Amino acid sequence: MLFKGIGMAEIDNLLKKEELNRDDLVYLLSSTGAERQKLFAHSAAIKERYVGNKVYFRGLIEFSNICSKNCYYCGIRRENKNTHRYNLSDEEILTAARFAYQNGYGSLALQGGELESEFFTTRIENLLKEIKKLSKGTLGITLSVGEQSPEVYRRWFLAGAHRYLLRIESSSRELYYKIHPEDDIHRFERRLQGLYDLKAAGYQVGTGVMIGLPFQTLTDLADDLLFMKNFDIDMCGMGPYIEHADTPLWELRDQLLPLEQRLDLSFKMIALLRILMKDINIVAATALQAIDPAGREKALKIGSNIIMPNITPGTYRNDYKLYENKPCTDEEATDCKNCLEARIHIAGSKVGYNTWGDSIHFKNRMQQDGSSNDPQ
Ligand code: 5AD
Ligand code: SF4
Ligand code: FES
Repeated sequence: MLFKGIGMAEIDNLLKKEELNRDDLVYLLSSTGAERQKLFAHSAAIKERYVGNKVYFRGLIEFSNICSKNCYYCGIRRENKNTHRYNLSDEEILTAARFAYQNGYGSLALQGGELESEFFTTRIENLLKEIKKLSKGTLGITLSVGEQSPEVYRRWFLAGAHRYLLRIESSSRELYYKIHPEDDIHRFERRLQGLYDLKAAGYQVGTGVMIGLPFQTLTDLADDLLFMKNFDIDMCGMGPYIEHADTPLWELRDQLLPLEQRLDLSFKMIALLRILMKDINIVAATALQAIDPAGREKALKIGSNIIMPNITPGTYRNDYKLYENKPCTDEEATDCKNCLEARIHIAGSKVGYNTWGDSIHFKNRMQQDGSSNDPQ
C-alpha cells in the first residue's frame, strides 16, 4: 500500500513536469495499473486541448512493393523471393486518388518501396501534378518513398507534395545496424540527412520508429522520443514491430516481447509523444490493428489524430505485406471507409472531411514567415 502511495505521487509529479528527461520517460514506459491509466488520461486531455477530437484521413495508396532495399524486418525486402511484385499503373493510382477526392478524404498518401532513378522521380512528379489537377488543387499529398536526393525532394515539393514521412526506424545508430545491413544503401547517416533535407525543402516532416524490435530497450525508446522532440518533427507514424516469416529477423522471434506488450508499449509511446509534442499530427498506425482489432481506436483516444484508410485496389493489398496479419487485405476502399467511420465514431471522435488537417505544429513553426499554405 505504502509502495503504491509513493508510486502515485511519483506519477503525479512527473506529469506536472515541464520537461521529461530520459529517466522519466523510461519510468513512464514501464508504468502499469493506475499509473498507466493516469498517463493515458493525461495524454488524452492534452490531445483534446491542443488538437481537438477531429481525426483526419490520408487515403493510403500502396502503389508498388518493388524495393531496392533489404531491411531485415520487412516482408517486401528485395531478397524476399516469395513476394509477388506489383506496380500500379498511373491510371489505377489516379482512380484511387479520385476516390479520395470524391469521398472528401482531404488528403492522400502515396507509399511504395524505395527506388531512386530519374524515371521514378519523373513518374512521381507527373502523378503529383495529375492528382492536383483531378482534385482541383484540393487534395493534400503526403509522400513516403524513402531516401532521395535533396534535388528530388525539391522537385516533388514543387509538383504538389507537401508532407513527407520518412521513418528513422530507430534513432540509435547501433540498433539501426542490427535491423539493416551495414552497407552503402542502408546508411543511418543518409536517413538522418534525409530528414534535414526534407525540412529544408519546405515539407511538413514526419518520422517514426518500430516498437518492440529485437535488441531494443526502454532507453532506446525514450531516446527515440527525445530524438523526435529535438528534431522538432511535425508528424509521427510509429507502431509495433511484427515479425514476418520471410525475413532474417524471423530467426529472433523467440527473443521478442509478447505481441500484447509491444502493443502496450506502442500506446505508451503515442501517449508520451503527445505529452512531449502537443500540437503535432500522430498517426494511429495500421500495425496496431494487426495485434488488436480495436488498436487504432485505442490510439485515437490517447493521442493519435490521423488515420490512413487503405485505398489501394483490393487485388494488390495482399502483396504489400510488410508484416504478418496485416488488416484490410481482403477489403476495398469503400469497406475501409465505412468501417473506419464507425470505429472513429465509437472512439468519440469525428472525421474531418474535406480538409487537409495539417500539423498545427508546422503552422506554428511557419507563422513567422506566413508560409502556411492550407486553403482551409
Ligand atoms: N513490422 C512493423 N512495421 C514494419 N515496417 C516494415 N516492416 C515492418 C514490420 N515487420 C514499417 C517500417 C517502414 C514502414 C513502411 O513499415 O517502419 O518504414
Ligand atoms: Fe523497402 Fe521500406 Fe521495406 Fe525497407 S522497410 S525493405 S525500404 S519497403
Ligand atoms: Fe479496412 Fe476496417 S479499416 S476494413
